[in-house]
Amino acid sequence: MKRAFGLMATSALVAMSFAANVQAQNVEVLHWWTSGGEAAALNVLKQDLESKGISWQDMPVAGGGGEAAMTVLRARVTAGNAPTAVQMLGFDIQDWANEGALGNLNDVAAAEGWDDVVPGALQNFSKNGGNWVAAPVNVHSTNWVWINKAALDAAGGKAPTTWDELVAVMDAMKANGITPLGHGGQAWQEATIFDAVVLSMGNDFYQASMIDLDPDALGGDTMVEVFDRMAKLRSYVDDNFSGRDWNLASAMVINGEAGMQMMGDWAKGEFLKAGQVAEEDFVCIRFPGTQGSVTFNSDQFAMFDVGMDNDSQKQMASSVMNPTFQSAFNVVKGSVPARTDVPNDDFGYCGKKGMADLAEANANGSLFGSMAHGHAAPASVKNAVYDVVTAHFNGEMSSEEAAEELAAAVADAM
Ligand code: GAL
Repeated sequence: MKRAFGLMATSALVAMSFAANVQAQNVEVLHWWTSGGEAAALNVLKQDLESKGISWQDMPVAGGGGEAAMTVLRARVTAGNAPTAVQMLGFDIQDWANEGALGNLNDVAAAEGWDDVVPGALQNFSKNGGNWVAAPVNVHSTNWVWINKAALDAAGGKAPTTWDELVAVMDAMKANGITPLGHGGQAWQEATIFDAVVLSMGNDFYQASMIDLDPDALGGDTMVEVFDRMAKLRSYVDDNFSGRDWNLASAMVINGEAGMQMMGDWAKGEFLKAGQVAEEDFVCIRFPGTQGSVTFNSDQFAMFDVGMDNDSQKQMASSVMNPTFQSAFNVVKGSVPARTDVPNDDFGYCGKKGMADLAEANANGSLFGSMAHGHAAPASVKNAVYDVVTAHFNGEMSSEEAAEELAAAVADAM
């Protein structure tokens, strides 16, 4: 009897430790990387983990900017079924950490010296109460313009550096019979352009309106001018823009149907996936008037406290932070590494420019969190900005009304 019990106990133990092992080798990852370029980058990560014996359970939630993914995440956590790792942006990481939902990565961070290689601007989001709760995989920036090279050549050949030059190039593209601005009518895409237009009014104005949420900046004359410029940009968009996904707008620029797209550097992933080469097929510039400044967002993997041995989460975090991986992944994704010690050798022209711009902006105090991508203010404020910007873009209010409404909506959301 005793022996039989002993046997049973042993086999139960074996079964339990097998289950723990299976758990330890598996990560379920919730993300919104579903476009061609994004999926190619995700594959680099998947394969890296699989080469280390960690199997990947995919939980994709389509929708650029991640709003839909965050809605699904909330439902999963409410149901007591959090995924292991979640792609997450800025203030969302802090919100979840403040709810006590995230695990702690301090051991692996200390062992690998993350404090010394991750820029402070990212650590502000990766750490909560001094603890590492997320691993940053990249730095994107939102104030880019992606231009079809042949269309630019046909429009005079000079990349615009000021608002007036931008308008002149878009007028020339219109006269040449193409859609000057490839754009998808979704609130987050309009907000992405808005980031750049606000920044083009000066660093102080971006800081005051988008970071400090100063009501005078949000509702004042400069903001009216920002909305006037948004309305002008709207006039260069084709009739079928409503609801179009961002990568389809990139495709319009790739195939020459549109002249340019104002979008974060994930768009570059689409150009590269299509076999295009920077400076030959497409041109990357900072949104005119924002040269020297950067609005950034960083995709991070937040690790949920899933109440089990979190070895696989630590292994995933360690893989994500590996410098060789950060180079391989970001070359494909269009972003730049989240560590300061990764060489730029494998990056193309725009990637090298992205890395140099980021370092310069960081050194000069010209690096700002992107409002559109969750690094300037919490989601409640971001969503209030989305609503006003998109309503104005769709002609529902004048620029004066939009500025007034923006100040009021942000105040309500705070
Ligand atoms: C951003 C994210 C990028 C890219 C983009 C479009 O918020 O940081 O990685 O996925 O959305 O989906």
